Amino acid sequence: MHGSDGLRKTVRPSDGKEAQGASHAGPFGIPARMGLRGTLCALVLVSISCWCSASRIDANQTATLLVDASPGMGRMMPQNMFGIFFEEINHAGAGGLWAELISNRGFEDGGPNTPSNIYPWSIIGNETNIIVSTDRTSCFIRNKVALRMEVLCDNNGSNICPAGGVGVYNPGFWGMNIQQGKAYKIALHVRTSESMNLYLSLTSSDGSLNLATATIQSDTLEKTDWTKVELQVESSGTNVNARFQLTTTTKGVIWLDQVSVMPLDTYKGHGFRMELASMLADLKPRFLRFPGGSYVEGEWLMNAFRWRETIGPWEERPGHFNDVWKYWTDDGLGFYEFLQLAEDIGALPLWVVNTGISHNDQVNPSSISAFDTLDAIEFARGDSGSKWGSVRASMGHPEPFQLYYVALGNQDCSMRNYKGNYLKFYSAIKDAYPDIQVISNCDGSSGPLDHPADLYDFHVYTSANNMFSMAHQFDRTSRSGPKAFVSEYAVTGKDAGKGSFLAALAQAGFLIGLERNSDIVEMASNAPLFVNDNDRRWSPDAIVFNSWQQYGTPSYWMQHFFKESSGAIIHPSVLQASSTKSLMASAITWQKSEDGNKYLKIKIVNCGSDLVNLKISVTGLENDVCSCVSKKTVLTGRLTDENSFREPKKVFPVSSKLPNARSNMDVVITPYSINAFDLFLAPASYSSSM
Ligand code: AHR
Repeated sequence: MHGSDGLRKTVRPSDGKEAQGASHAGPFGIPARMGLRGTLCALVLVSISCWCSASRIDANQTATLLVDASPGMGRMMPQNMFGIFFEEINHAGAGGLWAELISNRGFEDGGPNTPSNIYPWSIIGNETNIIVSTDRTSCFIRNKVALRMEVLCDNNGSNICPAGGVGVYNPGFWGMNIQQGKAYKIALHVRTSESMNLYLSLTSSDGSLNLATATIQSDTLEKTDWTKVELQVESSGTNVNARFQLTTTTKGVIWLDQVSVMPLDTYKGHGFRMELASMLADLKPRFLRFPGGSYVEGEWLMNAFRWRETIGPWEERPGHFNDVWKYWTDDGLGFYEFLQLAEDIGALPLWVVNTGISHNDQVNPSSISAFDTLDAIEFARGDSGSKWGSVRASMGHPEPFQLYYVALGNQDCSMRNYKGNYLKFYSAIKDAYPDIQVISNCDGSSGPLDHPADLYDFHVYTSANNMFSMAHQFDRTSRSGPKAFVSEYAVTGKDAGKGSFLAALAQAGFLIGLERNSDIVEMASNAPLFVNDNDRRWSPDAIVFNSWQQYGTPSYWMQHFFKESSGAIIHPSVLQASSTKSLMASAITWQKSEDGNKYLKIKIVNCGSDLVNLKISVTGLENDVCSCVSKKTVLTGRLTDENSFREPKKVFPVSSKLPNARSNMDVVITPYSINAFDLFLAPASYSSSM
């Protein structure tokens, strides 16, 4: 299995050419190749030197940042430079971003055969009053497993049902977040031939307290056939660890299938958990890479994500076992929903396609066909009269989605059949959709690719020192050929913990390096995006959540410093200091979409223990800098600081006014800090109107 420590084919500095500074003491003062114990010692030393620098004036540095903002000297950064990468890992989607509260809603977790795995459904009652089993009698062709409940007790006679009845309950994904006054949509499929009472309820975790109840009258059900029941309930109380239950006090046999409980209140009404989707939108991502990662490949092809099985009515989707990250997904968050999510958060979708390669098996180029992929693209882009476009339209989106990026595979370059399969997919896609940007898995940063591609994928998981040094990774890369898509970057291991400030700091330096190289680095995204704290398969992640809480790790907040960069103008800038090893800086001009105002944003990352007295000198500006709405934003903390449910904003960007904002100004850069100075560039009309 892939884990933080056992990555396959991940590009690391030590895999090939050494990253700058990788073999000597890194910018954080930690020797780059130090072992675990050495790293911990070095962290202690770093913090001591930080403490010393605060009391010793000679530990301060002076530096100058020269920015040439002359018109014509800058370069526009790619329009879609910074985005996000969603992978179904850590229950990111099922039990996370996808707001469905029922886990294993079709009872298929054990696969298509019976007996199936009904976990986490549990039985209310005992063997004297109920028998629960699974059979293959569902009305849904692609997911035949249904739950059968044979109720032995009754509301009269010798075997009286216990108070509250017998039945089944589902605790959701480690408890359901049910809020007072909020409405929930319940949908389920039921079959029974008897006259039975059926009670649906949302309750406390032990079932003792009812939050919302509804009754199904069996005379409203089709006799002996399946009936879809849909209703809405409102909760009278709040419980973040609630469960859903279906009970009865009457004898008979009932079959159940495809049971869903969704909050009515979801992001743009499209089924995404409100707070989590809002956190994504707040990053202003320009693209959404989905649905993985290793998830796309699968350990075995039979378990890989298949777009076709994730579209159409939710009840008809078979779901599949995510064998890389080891959990079942009902595929409520399917291909259509990913495209919708991208649109809803203002991002372009970027689909990662399985090209017939998993971690353990692969299809030969002679047997592979790209038609399935062309169908998917038609589903996304075809007009509503086309075969697959009409399916999309029937799902509620008659207009095409803006799918212009397709990545062929994930980390598959070294796989035997990759190139052969890639070429088949590449030609088929380009023939049918010449405007689609095709992304190769092979690294083109150190030499030219031997196959056509618009972009190449580059992944890096490494230590903080290496990450910061890799700000220079693309400095000497050839300027011709396909551009880089750094689709997965993260500091991992001991430096990162579950999301340290140190990791964010090093990543910020790396991203500034990407900005400076944005003539050949086209796009970048951090990985992974989400972790449900109850199923942490990979650390660190940008956003942590449970059933009812969420917070951003320092990396999440670090990404906010880059949300104005896509499509902005980057200006030439030079840092002058006795040692610039621990500093990275960039200067961009960006325009606020809300009012059209322009800002010069200067970002400086200081990953050293010295305080830096920095002189900023900007020449060539066409506009005056006005201190009026100029501001400074700082993200800082101790290197080991992490946010948590208890302290979600321990490391959090703090903004303040910048009364001394001008084109030449002195600023103080504190040790270990990410800084942004947004200087308001007043239009000519501005001063005369004041
Ligand atoms: O981001 C986590 C994993 O790291 C991805 O699934 C994979 O692409 C990489 O190995």
